Amino acid sequence: MTTSSVPVSVDRDRLWGRIEALGEIGAVHGPSGERGSARLALTDADRDGRDLVVSWMRDLGLDVGVDAVGNVFATLPGSREDAAAVMTGSHIDTVRTGGRFDGVLGVLAGLEVIETLMAAGVTPHRPITVAVFTDEEGARFPPDMLGSLVYVGGMPLETALDVRSVDDGARLGDELTRIGYAGPLPCPAATSPHCFVELHVEQGPVLEDSDTTIGVVESVQGISWTELTITGRSAHAGTTPMRLRRDPAYAAAVITTFVRDLTRRFGGAQVATVGRIDVHPNLVNVVPSTVTMTVDLRNTDDRVLLDAERRLAELCDQIAADEGVTIERRSLARFEPVEFDQDMVECVERNARSLGHSTVRLPSGAGHDAQMLARVCPASMIFVPSADGLSHNIAEYTAPELIGAGADVLLAVITEHAVTDHTIPDHTITDHTIPREGTP
Ligand code: GLV
Ligand code: MN
Ligand code: MN
Repeated sequence: MTTSSVPVSVDRDRLWGRIEALGEIGAVHGPSGERGSARLALTDADRDGRDLVVSWMRDLGLDVGVDAVGNVFATLPGSREDAAAVMTGSHIDTVRTGGRFDGVLGVLAGLEVIETLMAAGVTPHRPITVAVFTDEEGARFPPDMLGSLVYVGGMPLETALDVRSVDDGARLGDELTRIGYAGPLPCPAATSPHCFVELHVEQGPVLEDSDTTIGVVESVQGISWTELTITGRSAHAGTTPMRLRRDPAYAAAVITTFVRDLTRRFGGAQVATVGRIDVHPNLVNVVPSTVTMTVDLRNTDDRVLLDAERRLAELCDQIAADEGVTIERRSLARFEPVEFDQDMVECVERNARSLGHSTVRLPSGAGHDAQMLARVCPASMIFVPSADGLSHNIAEYTAPELIGAGADVLLAVITEHAVTDHTIPDHTITDHTIPREGTP
């Protein structure tokens, strides 16, 4: 197959149609016409979404496999059977009030790239695999990127299967079996992909603000999730003098204010979020007995992130002593910032520009499966703009022409690695457990 006969654009209507169809599973409608999705990992809605995507994979005649943590892989074989695959993909689980594009775009654009190449009669040299990674959001089963983390050997499978849901306490492994996605393929995988590229919506404002079509993602910021369980003493709201209170809701409020103040003091890239607060017994006239809350801290600079974590810990000790409560801290996720492979980054940039798109290099504020794959193979990401920079919101939106532009760049990058005779130079891997291509 010569390069000149390789297509340069995907079927945008087909891709958009699949995004719409998947978005209907677990659909959430807002009062102003917003259309989002709720497919928390390993729920019935997640299963139904997986079933639909797998049916599309099978309709294309791809080799479909599921691994022991529920990651799904669909492969178009290459002419060099022993060659490692060029992998793309993302996730289709969502947060409870998720948009229709976060993750879904990377999976369905990957499928679209494969279908486009098949329709053009292109047989790649290397296999092309599209992956659907389990539980990228981590909202129900922390940490985030759990499926890709296990896939690259960053968390033992048994540990992952024993993770408990934050809402109903269900065991991840049991939920995987229940929805029919505890697969036979080994996880971690026996070999690593040749390279990995993920298309994703930006989920932030940078591209739209600068009127840029394609984001060339150079890095992902560090992520720290901590769950705090604050235990005080339940008491009568009217009769208990303030001096006798041991109020976990008050401690939670102090912590919430503290982390916001911390972002002002640190400035720069520091962000902080208290995203979940569960108050017990949650009644108007009862001083609560317990509060469970989460703190999400992120920074592109790990030293600053460590400092933020230290200050949070100190504040917890102080407010615990002052208010007479106990505060138990549990780390839910901790990932250092990740730099993507420079050759892969340049490949994304070059292909986006040669397709005539404006580009900007930027770090990712959100976590992504690509940051896990970067541990075992050269990896990079392509971003397309998010309207109003909104994500993790049912109003998340990216216009069809931008979706199409991103998918065309994905097609070009995959083509470069899997169809033309491009060779990626070796790079230094700092943290991997899977043998690289060519090693025993
Ligand atoms: C997950 O995608 C996150 O960034 O929280
Ligand atoms: Mn995502
Ligand atoms: Mn997300």
